[in-house]
Amino acid sequence: MDSVILSPYNSKYLGKLKNRIVMAPMSRWSADQNHCVIDLMSEYYIRRAKDGVALIITEGLIIHPSAAGHKNSPYIYTAEQANSWKKTISGVHRQGAKMFCQLWHCGRISHEDFTGGIQPVSSSAKRAEGINKQNNKPYARPRALTRSEIKDVYEMFIKSGELAFGAGFDGAELHFGHGYLVDQFFDSRINERKDEYGGSVDNRCRFALELTELFINKFGSEKVMVRISPSREMAGVYDWPEIEEMLACLISNFNKIGLRLLDISCASSDYYKTSGRVVRIVRPIWPHFLLSGASLSLRQAEAEVAAGLLDMVTWGRYILANPDFVSCLLSGKKLNQFKPEFLKKLY
Ligand SMILES: Cc1cc2nc3c(=O)[nH]c(=O)nc-3n(C[C@H](O)[C@H](O)[C@H](O)COP(=O)(O)O)c2cc1C
Repeated sequence: MDSVILSPYNSKYLGKLKNRIVMAPMSRWSADQNHCVIDLMSEYYIRRAKDGVALIITEGLIIHPSAAGHKNSPYIYTAEQANSWKKTISGVHRQGAKMFCQLWHCGRISHEDFTGGIQPVSSSAKRAEGINKQNNKPYARPRALTRSEIKDVYEMFIKSGELAFGAGFDGAELHFGHGYLVDQFFDSRINERKDEYGGSVDNRCRFALELTELFINKFGSEKVMVRISPSREMAGVYDWPEIEEMLACLISNFNKIGLRLLDISCASSDYYKTSGRVVRIVRPIWPHFLLSGASLSLRQAEAEVAAGLLDMVTWGRYILANPDFVSCLLSGKKLNQFKPEFLKKLY
């Protein structure tokens, strides 16, 4: 087979994979009232693994009740929640695929309705603009994390990591993108701190770097992926301010602290206008595993991999809309286009 995307791939970090196709993290807000996995979710993931997706990254899993930002998200805060993933992980493994979980703290993109009344936190006490779709209310006014609370958040991530690896996940992706908590430290339009976590580029990267280093030291480089979204079109927000300086600081430090798996996201924007540009800045200074994508055609994905820009490629909405996505790529069958109504049920 001459397709670089569809051929088996031996990754230095992830081992043997069926191909280079990754299912992007996609929240489906379908967990039960205890924030555990339900059977339909399990079947949904296993179905994609059976079809041939090589690596599945779960939807964002909330690391602590105060980190939530939506109704019905799965959490990974209690043993019961972590154990509820075991059936899915073993089913995915039986199909020869790997499974990472995504660990998520929403920060200010939240409301007390979702955190059990706890005031959401952020880098600064600056409210997000807009309306939360799940309760039709403005986002909550957050309070700024104190320096000691920042360390508490690191602990929350580590504790969820322990639960995740105990449940059998192959790795964990730290969600540092899309305007959620860690992005609220990166972004100088939001971060108004006067301490060592705000102000300069180095300071705004500190939260992400300290957390990543702790996580890698605890769990190992081959198990830790980081997702960032330096360029995206989401809620009127595009590139990070000082994007080139931010990337230079982050990538050189990610290299130093031993991060080896990086995922560049653009939320649901046009890849070439956003992530594709970031990938071209990052690749010359990042020799390790690089993942990105957003609704690319097979030919476009192949060109990115063949040019040495990406190691694997993510697809989100196409995989959501086509449980037989890989079979379709193999046979050339026409893909369903994603429609919002597909979000109403899991299949
Ligand atoms: C329904 C839906 C839910 C999503 N949830 C998450 C999420 O929990 N975490 C995350 O990092 N990205 C999330 N994303 C973004 C996707 O991972 C992906 O980056 C985006 O859909 C662009 O890829 P695509 O064009 O192939 O769909 C979500 C996207 C969709 C459509």
